Amino acid sequence: MNNGWINDSERDAFYKIVHARRDVRSFFKPDPVPSEALARVLRAAHHAGSVGYMQPWNFVVVEDPALRLKVKESFEKEKAEAALLFDEPKQRRYRSFKLEGILEAPVNLIVTCDSSRHGPQVIGRRSMPETDLYSTCLAIQNLWLAARAENLGLGWVSIVKPEDLHAIFGVPREITVVAYLCLGYVSEFPLEPDFERLGWLKRLPLKDLVFFEKWGDAKPSEGREDLPGLLGGEKK
Ligand SMILES: Cc1cc2nc3c(=O)[nH]c(=O)nc-3n(C[C@H](O)[C@H](O)[C@H](O)COP(=O)(O)O)c2cc1C
Repeated sequence: MNNGWINDSERDAFYKIVHARRDVRSFFKPDPVPSEALARVLRAAHHAGSVGYMQPWNFVVVEDPALRLKVKESFEKEKAEAALLFDEPKQRRYRSFKLEGILEAPVNLIVTCDSSRHGPQVIGRRSMPETDLYSTCLAIQNLWLAARAENLGLGWVSIVKPEDLHAIFGVPREITVVAYLCLGYVSEFPLEPDFERLGWLKRLPLKDLVFFEKWGDAKPSEGREDLPGLLGGEKK
């Protein structure tokens, strides 16, 4: 970086990381994650934007196998219950999916949100109180991208009861558990999302998601006629 300017190869590296980021549930290796790499990833998370500079997050680094086993048990229960929401043959397919790497990933991380941080008046939160949670998600996205830059796989596990996580890890009731993440080196990074590869869902065409001037208006504004054609282009 030069006076804050990003040069072309740095820009390309950024987009490469964005497009190569994957939710990883398989392929975890037991190799330890060095503290230096973990610190870089956590520092990236901590440099996310947050409403009113609230920084509502905390991170719990979990490595104890006994604690992770308890989370895995909670996951199995939740996954079995969630399976019942699908009719056959989708239910059988859902059951077959690998949806976590809790025990295989050497590091698990809990990311929480403290809605009361810095007291009741935080700039920007009056109209949208939920921006504390949005901010925490930005920290998680930073963490996810930083992990990818470190060639660390990361998988988000939301198939677990928050109450179980509160109980297992002693998280106070007033703190929101936003994410349970599995982190570690991997033998490979899938090139596409698992759900795409498995034919469960497809990436939506971006051009169908972009409107012009008013909600639902797909007709490009003057001077933007070229944009829809560019939205499916190369990953840069
Ligand atoms: C809020 C959130 C919760 C998620 N929960 C799970 C989960 O419980 N299990 C799982 O396998 N993947 C989970 N994922 C990962 C998504 O399935 C994944 O991001 C999506 O399929 C796109 O794949 P990609 O991340 O590889 O691009 C979660 C992702 C997000 C953002």
